[in-house]
Parts: sequence; C-alpha cells; structure tokens
Amino acid sequence: MSAFSRFTPLVSSLPSTVPFVGPEAIERQRGLKVEARIGANENGFGPAPSVLAAMREAGGDIWKYNDPENFELREALAAHLGVTSANIAIGGGIDELLGQIVRLVIEPGMPVVTLLGGYPTFNFHVAGFGGRLVTVPYVNDREDLDGLLDAVKRENAPLVYFANPDNPMGSWWDADKIVAFARALPETCLMVLDEAYSETGPASALPSIESLIDLPNIVRTRTFSKAYGLAGARVGYVISTPGTAQAFDKIRNHFGMNRLATAAALAALKDQAYLAEVVGKIHAARERISDIARANQLSPLPSATNFVTVDAGRDGTYARAIVDGLMQHGVFIRMPGVAPLNRCIRVSVGPEADMALLEKSLPQVLRTL
Ligand SMILES: Cc1ncc(COP(=O)(O)O)c(C=O)c1O
Repeated sequence: MSAFSRFTPLVSSLPSTVPFVGPEAIERQRGLKVEARIGANENGFGPAPSVLAAMREAGGDIWKYNDPENFELREALAAHLGVTSANIAIGGGIDELLGQIVRLVIEPGMPVVTLLGGYPTFNFHVAGFGGRLVTVPYVNDREDLDGLLDAVKRENAPLVYFANPDNPMGSWWDADKIVAFARALPETCLMVLDEAYSETGPASALPSIESLIDLPNIVRTRTFSKAYGLAGARVGYVISTPGTAQAFDKIRNHFGMNRLATAAALAALKDQAYLAEVVGKIHAARERISDIARANQLSPLPSATNFVTVDAGRDGTYARAIVDGLMQHGVFIRMPGVAPLNRCIRVSVGPEADMALLEKSLPQVLRTL
C-alpha cells in the first residue's frame, strides 16, 4: 500500500494494526450479529430519561459551537465534587484526556510506568508520543502498587498510570492505600489515577477529594461513560490542582466537545436518583454474572466495576475459545490481553435479556470445548 513518504520517524515506526476491534467490526468481519452487547464495559441500562430529554432539547442549538471553556459543566462538576471549576478540565472521554496527559509530560524515549496487562488505551497513547513503557506485573490479580512505586523510582519516570477500581480485573485497593501511594511518589512523577469506575465500587475504594487535591502531580480521571450510561457521548474530566488542570488548555481541542454531549452530562449529573437506581442494577447484574459463572464451574473474581472478570481456570487459548464461542451465540464479551490474566474472560453487566442469553449460551459453549 503506498503511503505518504514523510510521516515522522515515530509515526512510521508504529504498527499499522488497529488495536481496538469493536463489536461492530466483529459483526462485519464474522458475519454475526451481537444480541448481548456485554463486552465493552458500557452500561446497557442506558442514560436517564431526563438526559435523553435534555439532549432532544439541545438539538435545535446544534448549529452553534459549544462553549470552548465548558463553563457550565465545569461549574456543575465543581459543585458536585466540592472543588472549584479551576480544578476541572473537560475532554472527550478519559481516552482523549489520557492522550493529552501523555502529550503534556512525555518526550520520545521517556519511561512511563504502568501495569502489564492494564488498560491498553493508555499504552496506545504512550506509543503515539514515543514514550517507553515500563510494565509491572499484577500480583494475585491485583495491581502491584509497591512494584509501580519501585519502578517509578528506579526509572526516574515522569508518568505513572493505574486504574482504581481496575480494568481488566475489576479489583480495587482501599483509599488509604491509594493516598499512601500518591504521597510516597516523587513530586517529579505525574500520577494518573483513572477512576472510570468511581461510582460502582465501595465507598472505601474512593479517596476523598480533599485527600489528594493539594498535590499538583496527581490527576484523577473520571467519565460519564460507565455508571451514567453515556459512552457514546464521550465526556470525561480531570480533577487536579488549578495549575495542573489549566495546563490542558495549552493543548486541548477547545471546540472539541459536542453540545449534545455536554447537555447530556449536565442533565445526568442533576439526576442523582437515576444514578443510584442504575448503580443498584449494576450491583445486581454483577451478582447475576457471578452466579452464572459459578453454575458453570468457573470462578468469578470480586468486582468494584460494571463488569465481572471470570477465571476460566486454564490458559489464554481456552479463554479465547469461550469468547469466540459466545460470539457465535450473539454474546459479545472480551478478555484480558496478557498472561496470566488472559486465563480469564470479562463480562460487562447488562439488562436481564443479556444475562439470560449468557446463561443459556455459556454451558453450550463450554460443552463444545
Ligand atoms: C480504566 C478505564 N479508563 C477509561 C475508560 C474509557 O473511558 P471513556 O469512555 O471516558 O474514554 C475505560 C473504559 O473501558 C476504562 O476501563
């Protein structure tokens, strides 16, 4: 395939394979139809009716660019969290913000510390800015915080990333552990604490805002994609000190936020009763997935997220066969990418019809293996 001859050496060196294969691509490639979309940690319970109404109402204004300062949403988030709007930066989901964070900190060749098998989009951005990934294995299916800290110090790394609660394992550390890690970190290292699942875990897993807000080297990332059910809207935000949060203004796409998405996020934040209802459904669906796993002699791991990671008891090939087999029944799930985590499958919560199809299909798939 002919391509332009003067891409940067960095871009020329990157693999051309697409790292993220979505359910739509699987449908196209394999000629199958997804009936139960429980693989991408979306929220099949959907957004609040009040959110859909707000989006419809905002539709007529779609000819206008959005407010480049995202003033209203930052004010609303600040009031919700008990910080000032200067502590907040808005972006197109955590995924976009992760790219901006790497860009703010990393020059080609610099070390970046994360987990081996951790959230892959972060690694994708590190590669795109030429960072050098330094990975730390999980220990007992949990993120090894001591290992991360050792690696940061050994490498004099300017950036470390982990998620709490974690994807892909669903595990979590209590807040005091996270705060101790943050306080032990050299101030020359920026810590990304990815809290995509902040609403679905136990309160004890979420450090208070006050416990970290004074630290300019801590950036907490959160999203409307999970508990709020707005993955397709692409709204995420950063909580940090005003100085660090404002650095995003130097590089972000100031007209990048979609007006309908901002209207949706504002309405979602107002409807905390709906959020509580959905979080209850998420907890119940986690139990349902765990029961289905156990009924098939598989071992569900404890989860603080909107998915359950299930130990299938063998290796990556076996887990892959389950994932592929379920897809033949229209059940889209995923699995961790790296050994030994890839002995597991990962099932997102969803409405009862999805759970029922999983319950029906899983034993049939396992029987064929
Ligand atoms: C740990 C983690 N961070 C970020 C994201 C993506 O969030 P967003 O939709 O806000 O980009 C996910 C989604 O699966 C995730 O698991």
